[in-house]
Amino acid sequence: MNSGNTARGSFGSQLGVILASAGSAVGLGNIWRFPTEVGKGGGAAFILIYLGFIFLFAMPVMISEFVIGRSARSNAIGAFQKLAPKKLWIVAGMMGVLGGFLVLSFYSVVAGWTLHYTVQSALGKLQSQGETDFGAVFNAFASDPWQPILYLAVFLLLTHLVVSRGIQHGIERYSKLMMPMLLAIIVLLVAFSLTMTGAAEGLRFLLRPDLSKVTPEVVLGAMGQAFFSLSVGLGCLVTYASYFNNETRLVSSAMNVCIIDTMVAVLSGFIIFPTVFSVGIAPDAGPGLVFITLPNVFLLSFSEMPVLGYAFSLLFYVLLLLAALTSSISMHEICTAFISEHFNKSRRRAAAIVTLVCLVLGSFCSLSFGPWQEVTFFGRGFFDLFDYTVTKFLMPLGGLLITLFVGWYLDRKLVEQQLTNDGSIPVRTMRPLLFLIRWVAPIGILVIFLNELFPLFL
Ligand code: PHE
Repeated sequence: MNSGNTARGSFGSQLGVILASAGSAVGLGNIWRFPTEVGKGGGAAFILIYLGFIFLFAMPVMISEFVIGRSARSNAIGAFQKLAPKKLWIVAGMMGVLGGFLVLSFYSVVAGWTLHYTVQSALGKLQSQGETDFGAVFNAFASDPWQPILYLAVFLLLTHLVVSRGIQHGIERYSKLMMPMLLAIIVLLVAFSLTMTGAAEGLRFLLRPDLSKVTPEVVLGAMGQAFFSLSVGLGCLVTYASYFNNETRLVSSAMNVCIIDTMVAVLSGFIIFPTVFSVGIAPDAGPGLVFITLPNVFLLSFSEMPVLGYAFSLLFYVLLLLAALTSSISMHEICTAFISEHFNKSRRRAAAIVTLVCLVLGSFCSLSFGPWQEVTFFGRGFFDLFDYTVTKFLMPLGGLLITLFVGWYLDRKLVEQQLTNDGSIPVRTMRPLLFLIRWVAPIGILVIFLNELFPLFL
């Protein structure tokens, strides 16, 4: 085993730290998954539960990942090896790297669809098709054996190019470029969609809690969503934090990332629901929402203003694409950092290995919408299987182990040193924070996780 630490990169600025971490957090999870879950989970009722999970469970995991990453300055597996040599904690790191491969594989499939829809809307194809059954168009595309794989490959290549340039010249530089663009597009689209005819009804749906929709499944979904959205539980932020410098403030950085991520998720709701209600389509349309419902909306609501329709749809898919890319680079980095350090390979080589493996696994996921529909394991195709394994299993379990590790195993002094930057900044919330890390988050995650395996309590 080689620590390979000699050529470790680091983030060059505090802004870079925040934008890269927020870039990892803000992704398809916010713009594609969150509105779907809100639609199914009773609007504001879901949002409230979700907020609870973000601040009570997911943020403590994020801060714990930061502590592990910066004190060990190593990849997700190497960090556990360094801080707890020859102990079983390494399993948490292994689950993370495995999760990194799986999540990047299925995520890139959806990102590939997004790329296709970006191209289509740039060519004006989404707005000018007249009477179209967008459901059929989407299904025909997603189940095609080749096309989606081609887009998947292009998307992975883009991710690869950023990651192989390294931390400052790749991840930090492109996060600093893409995140401001992403935020500007969101604000523009919110302004756009609030002027639409159905805006009031959409907002009412989003802001009024419908408690009758809250089932145990919705609660579980909210936890999964909180973890997925903040990218916690897989050691992704362990890896990023290993490139933080000694001045980076862990607690306030985590707060900033949580706030930005939540804001983007809620604002995506502000874009999608008014738009969807403006043409009277059910808001709980499922994952097809952004690829089936929205093209319909673009067509219907902008039929008299084709230029606006063109701008709106193109901006929307560019937004989705930017969000996907800033997240996929962080998933890629979990695996690249591990391979490069553990097997002592150059960053470029390590990145190439990760890209190739994910291209193969991602193709399996893509084929599970078409020719491989019948290939199932435990009743799930590859895409569903990977999604399920990561969001329902690896992330909560990883989160549990990570908080237990920081709360109970690591030396309390080391944890406090990390949180206060060696005593140089006061962290007034230290006690409640440690209480969250030691008790609230692990117990909460455990209860919800066990309930999922043996549905008894909730
Ligand atoms: N947080 C990302 C999103 O919301 C997804 C992600 C998961 C990124 C795990 C990195 C690791 O889309």
